[in-house]
Amino acid sequence: MNNTTNKSEKFIQLEDRYGAHNYHPIPVVLERGEGVHVWDVNGKRYYDFLSAYSAVNQGHCHPKIIDTLIRQSQKLTLTSRAFYNDKLGPYEQFITEYFGYEKVLPMNTGAEAVETAIKLCRKWAYEKKGLLENEAVIVVCENNFHGRTTTIVSFSVDPDAYTHYGPYTPGFVVIPYNDADALAKVLAGNPNVAGFLVEPVQGEAGAYVPDEGYLKKCADICNAHNVLFIADEVQTGIARTGNLLACDYENVHPDILILGKALSGGTYPVSAVLSSNEIMEVIHPGQHGSTFGGNPVAAAVAITALEVVRDEHLAEKAYQLGIYFRKAMTKLCSESKVASFVRGKGLLNALVINNEGSKNLAWDICLKLAENGLLAKPTHTNIIRFAPPLVITRAQLDECIEIINTTVKSFG
Ligand SMILES: Cc1ncc(COP(=O)(O)O)c(C=O)c1O
Repeated sequence: MNNTTNKSEKFIQLEDRYGAHNYHPIPVVLERGEGVHVWDVNGKRYYDFLSAYSAVNQGHCHPKIIDTLIRQSQKLTLTSRAFYNDKLGPYEQFITEYFGYEKVLPMNTGAEAVETAIKLCRKWAYEKKGLLENEAVIVVCENNFHGRTTTIVSFSVDPDAYTHYGPYTPGFVVIPYNDADALAKVLAGNPNVAGFLVEPVQGEAGAYVPDEGYLKKCADICNAHNVLFIADEVQTGIARTGNLLACDYENVHPDILILGKALSGGTYPVSAVLSSNEIMEVIHPGQHGSTFGGNPVAAAVAITALEVVRDEHLAEKAYQLGIYFRKAMTKLCSESKVASFVRGKGLLNALVINNEGSKNLAWDICLKLAENGLLAKPTHTNIIRFAPPLVITRAQLDECIEIINTTVKSFG
């Protein structure tokens, strides 16, 4: 083992020895990021094609976001919500106007925001829709990914996510994704349904895009049954899929919108639940909250992160470059035996690998991609998600396509 390898090894061993083994990282140790690039401890540069699961849409260490982060951190970081602060109100006005909602409830992580949406939906159902206490049902989809809390894994269909975490939270019905008829059937047969929670594109499932019209149909069905349409846009939102929100493709305005990840450009945990006055007013002081939710740093950073998305036209870029990228990957699939097909929307895409010959093929391809200067990680064994920061240029994307082509073809 040479010295260069040793530099990485030390950090890998430390994580291995002292950290819980709840992740299985690609063996690179990163120490710096800028725009679409990250550098490891040996000075090797990579294209980041994961973007921290779409949290770094604005690119690593975006100078404007970092500037806001530093300036606000030097002034006031945390007051708790026991007091007002001079950043939260302006942020609440900014984000509600930005996404076209009346109210926002600020949280920190994506899972917390999903939990908040579930609580909000249930409370609304008891206090406004008139359901009997403890009877409310929320409909969710197969292969969902909404986070890791006990309640959320209660309705996961992934054994890794839920096994041995029971007893599970009741009150959820799972239906197939991309099946509006299944939703209609449940809603027609069960008067206790309070909400329908859905990812507009299933990110963790492998950039699974539903049929055109699915979201609109579901929103209309919900509307007809006085059921809340809840969109989890934690991964798809904030320009990733080529529109500000993936729901915008079908002009769907969710009753409850859940955001996270890129709300801070990957610099700080910031999440949000947006809704109407009528829905949000069911929550009164003391009934929900978080010490860090809505803190001044988060509020200031989120405004700048959203300004960057708008000022740098990241949604339009993701839309155009996404079409270009899928075209290149479709060509690759026609030329390579191991690449089956590509799917996705905007710059949230996945290359599906034919792993009949070797179960580890997608992992091995990712190791080789890293060697060749591009970082990606498989999801569900045979799917490689490609989601670069949206600040990527066409020339950089061309370089990445070349790396992917060469690497994948070296496997067949
Ligand atoms: C759609 C969706 N919802 C929720 C989450 C959970 O977010 P967090 O990891 O910040 O809790 C994720 C994370 O990947 C996600 O993709």
